[in-house]
Amino acid sequence: MSATVDFNDRMLSLGLARVSEAAALACADMIGRGDEKAADQAAVNAMREQLNMLNIQGVVVIGEGERDEAPMLYIGEEVGSGEGPGVDIALDPLEGTTLTAKAMPNALTVIAMAPRGTLLHAPDTYMDKLAIGPGYAKDVVSLEMSPRERVEALAKAQGCKTSDITVCILERPRHQDMIAEVRGTGASVYMITDGDVAGVIHCAEAERTGIDMYMGSGGAPEGVLAASALKCMGGQIWGRLLFRNDDERGRARKAGITDFDRIYSRDEMVTDDVIFAATGVTDGSIVSGVKSRPGYVETETVLMRSKTGSLRRMIYRNPVK
Ligand code: FBP
Repeated sequence: MSATVDFNDRMLSLGLARVSEAAALACADMIGRGDEKAADQAAVNAMREQLNMLNIQGVVVIGEGERDEAPMLYIGEEVGSGEGPGVDIALDPLEGTTLTAKAMPNALTVIAMAPRGTLLHAPDTYMDKLAIGPGYAKDVVSLEMSPRERVEALAKAQGCKTSDITVCILERPRHQDMIAEVRGTGASVYMITDGDVAGVIHCAEAERTGIDMYMGSGGAPEGVLAASALKCMGGQIWGRLLFRNDDERGRARKAGITDFDRIYSRDEMVTDDVIFAATGVTDGSIVSGVKSRPGYVETETVLMRSKTGSLRRMIYRNPVK
């Protein structure tokens, strides 16, 4: 048992895909049943059970919440068999609990793994996020720019009109002004009701999704998961923590954060190689949802490694006895 065992992400990646598959299979029965909590619980239980079968000395750094409020997969929980490399785990057993409860698209189970000490311990607060896909100069857009300036800068970099740009934004009252400003440039807004990990991933496959940029505030933990995905796929993301009260500032302090205004780049949120797996719960633009077929249940998982930039789309058929 040594924390110095190599992080053999090649071997561990398949195990990670099984973890996200198990969570998706477990919560599939809850699609459209209107019960967010039960859907999440099913995913949490299955993810934890499967995670504990991996030969890792894992610590959950992005999880279901603080220890006193989340009985399982809480921040700081040790997971894995206790053998193998020391790793940080970021997870969201069900990213899109409401999407699942309402049978709406793009609910995912999500997990990322990286060497110990290399994932940002983001507290459970909001984060102001900005993301674009690969192929742009560093800092072509920034969080300091206004929404209008971001659209104009991206259009200039692409050599297109602002009206050719599509921006993905979470539909929330807090984003009303941002949405109006983006639309004011002539750009199109692709609105999502939930699920900003998928929202950010869309930017990395702009030719497939038609989405050039993601902006707006959402969960900070989801920001680190999105940064993990973009580290594998290419693309840039920036995040700045947002605090609504002293309790949230306290959570940040507890997570070791001292500079509350800092803007984190992708590589500051994820400082080393990472593996990322996501399985579709409901059908979505990244992967298909869980499908019940005669004799088996099928899942689709996207599995990526930043070290090589490899991306697998894996179909898993689980026989139903
Ligand atoms: P849950 O899966 O926990 O419901 O989160 C969904 C989500 O839409 C995230 O993708 C996003 O970061 C966050 O909620 C946004 O928070 P809020 O709903 O408070 O605006």
